[in-house]
Amino acid sequence: MSPPSARSPGPAGAPAPAAPPAPAAPAAPAAPAASGADLLVAKAKDRSALIGIVGLGYVGLPLAMEFARVGFRVLGFDVSNNVVDGLNQGRSHVQDVPGAQLAGFVKAGAFAATTDLTRLREPDVVSICVPTPLSKTKDPDVSYVLAATNSVKQALRRGQLIVLESTTYPGTTRELLLPALEATGLKVGEDFFLAFSPERVDPGNPEWNTHNTPKIVGGITEACRRVATAVYEPAIERLVPVSSTEAAELVKILENTFRSVNIGLVNEMAIVCDKLGVSVWEVIEAAATKPFGFMKFMPGPGVGGHCIPLDPHYLAWKMRTLNYRTRFIELAGEINAAMPEYWVGRVVDLLNEQGRAVRGSKVLVLGVAYKKDIDDIRESPALDVIRLLQRRGAVVSYHDPHVRKLKDEAIDLTSLPLTSETIAAADCVVIVTDHTEVDYALVERCSRVIVDTRNALEKARRKGGAR
Ligand SMILES: NC(=O)c1ccc[n+]([C@@H]2O[C@H](COP(=O)([O-])OP(=O)(O)OC[C@H]3O[C@@H](n4cnc5c(N)ncnc54)[C@H](O)[C@@H]3O)[C@@H](O)[C@H]2O)c1
Repeated sequence: MSPPSARSPGPAGAPAPAAPPAPAAPAAPAAPAASGADLLVAKAKDRSALIGIVGLGYVGLPLAMEFARVGFRVLGFDVSNNVVDGLNQGRSHVQDVPGAQLAGFVKAGAFAATTDLTRLREPDVVSICVPTPLSKTKDPDVSYVLAATNSVKQALRRGQLIVLESTTYPGTTRELLLPALEATGLKVGEDFFLAFSPERVDPGNPEWNTHNTPKIVGGITEACRRVATAVYEPAIERLVPVSSTEAAELVKILENTFRSVNIGLVNEMAIVCDKLGVSVWEVIEAAATKPFGFMKFMPGPGVGGHCIPLDPHYLAWKMRTLNYRTRFIELAGEINAAMPEYWVGRVVDLLNEQGRAVRGSKVLVLGVAYKKDIDDIRESPALDVIRLLQRRGAVVSYHDPHVRKLKDEAIDLTSLPLTSETIAAADCVVIVTDHTEVDYALVERCSRVIVDTRNALEKARRKGGAR
């Protein structure tokens, strides 16, 4: 990994300044005192830096494990007593972090968690991984970032590196964190260091994880970026330094906007294909045989999770403050958000073909997590599908091997076992999440009517998934 070239000190071809008079030779040149940056870089190299992680969820906990894995001691901070107690007893609440690994680090003294935020003075590095949700009006809710920043500010000391990892709009690090931290009287780039490094983790992805996914790093100053890069280098396979915190913030939002827009496009294509009587899955698979210039995205029931439905709105909001409307973001958001309604419309039509009304029909929703093989239901389109069906009077039940109980506003359900009886008892089965371990052959055999929002049946058939 090589950092981008340093900026040239002045315009090319500028006349060289006149040589100053030669100073009197010093008696004995004293070794220059190591800067705060050099000290922290050295502590990262010999792993003596104590790493603090604020927010121990899907992002913070795997990151804490990566630092512990390469020999750092890690102190985790969270406001939840449950989270902290569980972690200190070696119990992981994050699917991608095995309990045995966590317990090993706790036992070895490499990882501990606390709710005592005054201890933020102890770590040399503080990485902030708190939630960045949207408000009800879809504006950024940076209250968690502000609260965490305030805790860091109360404890800030000379020589610390603070890194924001939460996804947010461009400008957050410089406009919110920097003034708060400099209000302590300490100067960024000299007394303390401030950087933004977005987390790109994809929960449940068996191939790409916190360790092997390249990590973007942008600093407020060059020294900030140098220190942040040195700290992450032992734990992350490849670092990608960028020239500013704003660039780093935008990289993350661009990635998620790219996904949102492309998913919006194929979702619209699903509706187009439906109207034309063509299989959208067949069209996409065939288009994907083009070896260049096409990237495969799959339609589905909408988008979910903590990232894709939310992050683009952070940028849209920021741009509204600058009098610019991000039209792609808004359109993709609109199309993706309307997909649950579209699929519920398919349920209505298919039941109608059977001579049944939705009201009073039993509908079994298969999969409620926002994507396959994980247990996260945040922003899951399944919640909208269930709500829309219930509003029409359907009697909704669900099965999800990863989500035992489903509670969200008026929804309060428990996962049913997936047996031939539960499937056959439903007037319609709606596949919302294509979890790998579901027996799709059984579903196909026992269902009366199936709406498959993910092409899960065909995929299972092709894999010879019939058990
Ligand atoms: N989940 C993902 O797949 C993912 C991927 C990439 C980026 N992100 C981003 O990472 C950030 C964190 O997301 P997450 O999914 O890990 O959230 P999470 O809800 O799983 O975890 C956040 C944790 O922070 C704690 N917390 C809240 N306020 C706090 C405070 N003031 N001090 C200390 N702890 C506090 C919460 O109790 C919780 O345990 C968000 O900005 C998100 O957009 C998430």
